[in-house]
Amino acid sequence: MTFHEIARSEDLEEGKGRPYTLEGQRLALIRHGGVVYALEDRCPHANAPIALGPVENGCIACPWHYAEFELATGRVLSGPACESITAYPVEEKDGFVSVSLTPLDHASA
Ligand code: FES
Repeated sequence: MTFHEIARSEDLEEGKGRPYTLEGQRLALIRHGGVVYALEDRCPHANAPIALGPVENGCIACPWHYAEFELATGRVLSGPACESITAYPVEEKDGFVSVSLTPLDHASA
């Protein structure tokens, strides 16, 4: 699995998301409980940027109509979105955050 350095650790504030683009892919990087998560930055309901939503209890809510997604897996927990979003593996080391574009579902297969 190839990891791409995408952000500096200091740029990711606790409890907030930030949008990034990696190889044409929109990603939301979110720090919660000190851990950085990477999700597809596109809500399946109407394409809202997930990165801008509120973060709470291991979830991020879509900023437009508040569908909720689990940070660790991208699993949809409440509507109006009815599909999950892709979660990507993240590594944080020596002040930098790296992401692999191999989706987490497939990473362990
Ligand atoms: S765009 Fe995300 S819930 Fe509507």
